[in-house]
Amino acid sequence: MLTVWEAIKMRRSIRKFAPDDVPGEMIEQMLEAARLAPSASNRQPWRFLVVRDKEVRKELRHICLNQQFIEEAPVVIVCFGDLEQYSRAAGRKRRKEFMNSGVASTMSGRFADPKYVTYLDSLPAPSREELLTPLIANTFIAIEHLVLMATALGLGTCWVGGFSDAYELNRLFGLAGNLVPAAVIPVGYPAGELLPQRPRLDLEEILLKPQA
Ligand SMILES: Cc1cc2nc3c(=O)[nH]c(=O)nc-3n(C[C@H](O)[C@H](O)[C@H](O)COP(=O)(O)O)c2cc1C
Repeated sequence: MLTVWEAIKMRRSIRKFAPDDVPGEMIEQMLEAARLAPSASNRQPWRFLVVRDKEVRKELRHICLNQQFIEEAPVVIVCFGDLEQYSRAAGRKRRKEFMNSGVASTMSGRFADPKYVTYLDSLPAPSREELLTPLIANTFIAIEHLVLMATALGLGTCWVGGFSDAYELNRLFGLAGNLVPAAVIPVGYPAGELLPQRPRLDLEEILLKPQA
């Protein structure tokens, strides 16, 4: 298996897949990499649906602006963020886990402070709109874990975020509106030789200098 650094360098968006099937253990390992991702307050809002069925892959292709390679990939992982994980009840549950699992002392200590917890509970509940950015930001971390694990295992993937109406994914699978579509990830063995790396900005272009 590739190291993290090798996987980061080798990953490409793959849009041509060999017809070979992907073993279930590999998909499980990708999901395990996603499961271990970090998230703010440990909310773990990511949820995944694994699709192998050809007819469903065809439906997914239509929802994703008719991008052909989605149907061609033997496996497609449909990724959602679950807004329910930002409810007050879910927050309490996560805090209780911190306390009960013996890790609280390794954290900032705030969760062990009843005054802080009372303060948290007194805050007005954020609106759906306000929650969408943290929801998707946290979900994307897990998705990239999954993608890098796929590369490490010799598999190809491509992030797909091009939808005409992302909530068609909910309608396709009968999922409620608390599940917010995040990305669709086709998975398979890459067909052909290793693609050249796509261009990236130079380091100087991404480094900011303080303006004050
Ligand atoms: C959030 C997100 C959405 C994307 N959506 C699509 C998409 O709908 N179709 C597609 O072919 N590629 C999509 N891409 C892949 C990008 O085009 C690709 O990552 C970028 O061009 C750099 O190429 P590389 O991944 O091979 O390094 C998406 C990437 C991200 C991160």
